[in-house]
Amino acid sequence: MTGRLVVLASGSGSNLQALIDAAAEGRLDAEIVAVYVNRRGAFARTRADEHGIPQEFVPMRPFLDAATDDRAGREAYDRDLADRIATHRPDAIVCAGWMHLFTRAFLDRVGVPVVNLHPALPGEFPGAHAIDDAWAAHLDHGLARTGVMVHLVPDEGVDDGPVLRTGEVPIRPDDTRETLEGRIHELEHHLLVEAVGELIGS
Ligand code: GRF
Repeated sequence: MTGRLVVLASGSGSNLQALIDAAAEGRLDAEIVAVYVNRRGAFARTRADEHGIPQEFVPMRPFLDAATDDRAGREAYDRDLADRIATHRPDAIVCAGWMHLFTRAFLDRVGVPVVNLHPALPGEFPGAHAIDDAWAAHLDHGLARTGVMVHLVPDEGVDDGPVLRTGEVPIRPDDTRETLEGRIHELEHHLLVEAVGELIGS
């Protein structure tokens, strides 16, 4: 049965596009039923619009401003987002450049697998600057490879959880940070589609 996906994507959305294309071309038996972004100007919104996929910008700031502390604000946001997502009855939620950590309030509420994509190998360079960190390690002590992982999000760990797919990306002597990033994204697009396909049994 065609899997229902909600995609959370707050950047350029090239990984969202990879999922859209794979579904359109029959390589992924999935329907992307909604896209949420947490940055107003995210290009992912345009991509969703172009393909007739409902998209919504849900900023965290109002929740933080209304709460007594940061944690309470994040939890209130997560509950609200989980409830919005639930209206689309997804089989899985894919974080494709969401750049935001979930609290248990979200994970306990959604009740379906949450998948995350990270541009580094398991246990290496967690956080928002993985490609910069790998590039710095290359310049500093000759790191010769980095990679990509797709994993489940079982808890509040940062870029950590049961691994669905990994792939290495060699760092070549003639690479620039930009050429390295390009190859990382290329592999991400491929591995994300594979991992999501396997997860939803397509
Ligand atoms: C990807 O590198 C992903 O691994 C990271 O954010 C980036 C999103 O890229 N978490 P895009 O918005 O899909 O182009």
